[in-house]
Amino acid sequence: MLTAPTRKAAAVIGGTHGLGHQLALRGSSAGLHTIVYGRSVNSIADSGGLDTRALDLTDPDSVRTANIAMPTPAYVFWVAGAHLKKALVETDEAELTALTRLLFTGPVSFLRRLLTADHGPVHLVTIASSSSWKRRERETLYCALKAAQAAFTRNLVPELLAAHPSSRVTLVNPGGLAVPDFHTGLDIDYGHMMDPGEVADIIWRLARQQAGPFEEVQILRSAEPGREGVPEVSFGPRPPQSPQPGEPAHRP
Ligand SMILES: NC(=O)c1ccc[n+]([C@@H]2O[C@H](COP(=O)([O-])OP(=O)(O)OC[C@H]3O[C@@H](n4cnc5c(N)ncnc54)[C@H](OP(=O)(O)O)[C@@H]3O)[C@@H](O)[C@H]2O)c1
Repeated sequence: MLTAPTRKAAAVIGGTHGLGHQLALRGSSAGLHTIVYGRSVNSIADSGGLDTRALDLTDPDSVRTANIAMPTPAYVFWVAGAHLKKALVETDEAELTALTRLLFTGPVSFLRRLLTADHGPVHLVTIASSSSWKRRERETLYCALKAAQAAFTRNLVPELLAAHPSSRVTLVNPGGLAVPDFHTGLDIDYGHMMDPGEVADIIWRLARQQAGPFEEVQILRSAEPGREGVPEVSFGPRPPQSPQPGEPAHRP
């Protein structure tokens, strides 16, 4: 097993709010040159020590031109996202294009630029979602794009290793986070959701401790009475749930 090189930087795609911002603050506190990408980089409440760079993943020009220079080797966190609770027939063409660009084609094009520039071995940390395998109501597009993000990440591993054998990939599927901005307009009990700072601590610990080239991790909130919202970590992929409530995904 090749030892991972000491990383000098952390680039967080979607590091202006929520989980991405918590990941960025911890990277900076650990002494890494920490780059935060997003649209609202000029209005970050706590930007001390962060290298902020404007990026709109729904705008192909922005994806093509955003500054990708960084000290290497680096962690790259793929975090940016937005939720969409709508049946497909309620989704208009503009929403379909924007969400697909934000959750998939924009970051994939941006990663292609980063990897083509060959910054040496990278440690890619992808924040997908338990929605990549869970049965959900009226979230067809969101769930499909999260599953695509997870499948893309798994299949990128051999390509990264072929270029640099000491590269690493961590695929994280979190459950519900207490990030009200993400679930705009939904009536949610945030007391039963996971704290994004606590989840960011877990993700950094897992990434730093990872020995092998690839790890897939589930960080799901406990439903146990008295422990609701406490993050529970388990390893490996989960089979997709059946669209029929209560039915197993596979024949026994
Ligand atoms: N919240 C949950 O319950 C939950 C659960 C499982 C997985 N996740 C996943 O975790 C990730 C982070 O979610 P969060 O809850 O932390 O949400 P959040 O607080 O809304 O943060 C979303 C991030 O994405 C960035 N972003 C949004 N649109 C963008 C665009 N067009 N171009 C560039 N960046 C853009 C935002 O930056 P700007 O607004 O500055 O552009 C922000 O930094 C998402 O991928 C989400 O799917 C969330």
